[in-house]
This record gives sequence, structure tokens and C-alpha cells, in this order.
Amino acid sequence: MAIPEFMKLKPDHKTVLVRDMTVFRNLRDFLVSDGYKVVYETPRVGEEKTGMATSAFHHPYTNERIAMVYGIDAPDEVSQGQAPFKFGFDGKPQAEAQTYIQHLALRTPDIFRFREYMEKKGAQFLTPIFQDKDSFGPLLQCFSREILDDEWFFFEFLQRDYDADKIGTKSGVQFVDKTVRSLYVTKQDEFRDWMKTHKKKTFLGELPKAKARDVFHEIIDNVDPKGYPLTVWAIAKAYRQ
Ligand SMILES: [Fe+2]
Repeated sequence: MAIPEFMKLKPDHKTVLVRDMTVFRNLRDFLVSDGYKVVYETPRVGEEKTGMATSAFHHPYTNERIAMVYGIDAPDEVSQGQAPFKFGFDGKPQAEAQTYIQHLALRTPDIFRFREYMEKKGAQFLTPIFQDKDSFGPLLQCFSREILDDEWFFFEFLQRDYDADKIGTKSGVQFVDKTVRSLYVTKQDEFRDWMKTHKKKTFLGELPKAKARDVFHEIIDNVDPKGYPLTVWAIAKAYRQ
């Protein structure tokens, strides 16, 4: 069977969480020394209380894009960007961890068809499709639910080269001035729920295990270059389940 166009996925960027500003500066220094160009920087985005600092990098030769995020706690509340460091990952506390890959963004030629197809299979998304721009440019984007119970990792799905005039006729799109802020607030709300229950809804958690495995493999196997997502260990871990 021919692969539908919307399933032809490409890596767009990775986002890495850092524990503190020292790690933020050190990783920034490493990336710049390694040839990455800084394409975006903001000291703070978020809500009134918790927030995050972000830098985004692009490598002109490899075309790799990396966003780096430092989650800023409020005096009385943990930022979702600190969750892996405060609550551990991979099923254990991670007192020494300094970094955590939070999401891989995969680009599709048609995010509406992609999402509809995935939802029909039972996949759970955290956010609606937002139209705005991120650190790397204009886009349509949505976040998946996290992929594993003992991880904080999730997918972003996005489309960059869309016809803006046609979007107005699509339902389920939210127009926002500051997408990053809306995504942040939704993510923080999800984290507040987790803090109360210590349970999470996962991306494919509603599906029987064998079906969930098929859907997960279908996504990963359709990424070009093949095998790229499996260099992210949380994905490799989920892929083997
Ligand atoms: Fe992203």
C-alpha cells in the first residue's frame, strides 16, 4: 500500500530541557562552538508564576535544529520543565541528570489529515492545532500526550509550508498571538494534574498494547531519514515495547 502524503514525516527539531542556568550556558557554549547559529533567544516566557527561558539553534551544514529550555519554578510551584530533574525519568530518580530531551518535532505535509488519521486510531493529543510561529518560523503545530508512564517525552507534530488562506476554513485550529505561551500553559496545566494524581494519560495509552505498538512503529518507520528518531533514547525505549 502506498504511504499517504501526510505520513511522510521529517525531523524538524529537538527540544532539550536543562536543569539550571549553568547547564544552559554550558550547553549553549558547546552548540555555538560546534557550529550552531543562535536563531532565537528569550529570557522568559510562560505564565505569571512559572516560566521558561529558551534558546534555539540551527546548524547550517547538518540542518539540525535544537531548542534549549530552562524551566523556571515559582516560589510555590515546580515548572513542568523541571519535572525530569525533580521527579526522575526512566523509572528512577535522576539526581545527577543535567539534561533531558523533552520532545522531537516531526514535520508532516498535512497536519490536519495526519491528526485525523491518528485520532481515528485512538491517539491522544494534548493541544489543539495552533497556528502561529515558533523559534524557527511560522507553522501549524500540536503536541501529543507523553509517550510513556515513566517519561516526560512527547512529540510535536507540525506543518510549516501551508497555505495560510486555506486555514481559515478548517475547524479545530486556534489562532494565538503567542503560541509558545499557550503551549506552555497547557503543558503546565497537564503537569498540575499529574502532581495531584501521579498518573498520566499517554499518547497511545487508550489502545490495546499490540495496536499501540503498531501505531507507534508506523509513525517512527515513516520518518525520513529512516532510523533518525531512534537516536532519541525515549523513542528507542518506547519502540521496543
Ligand atoms: Fe518544539
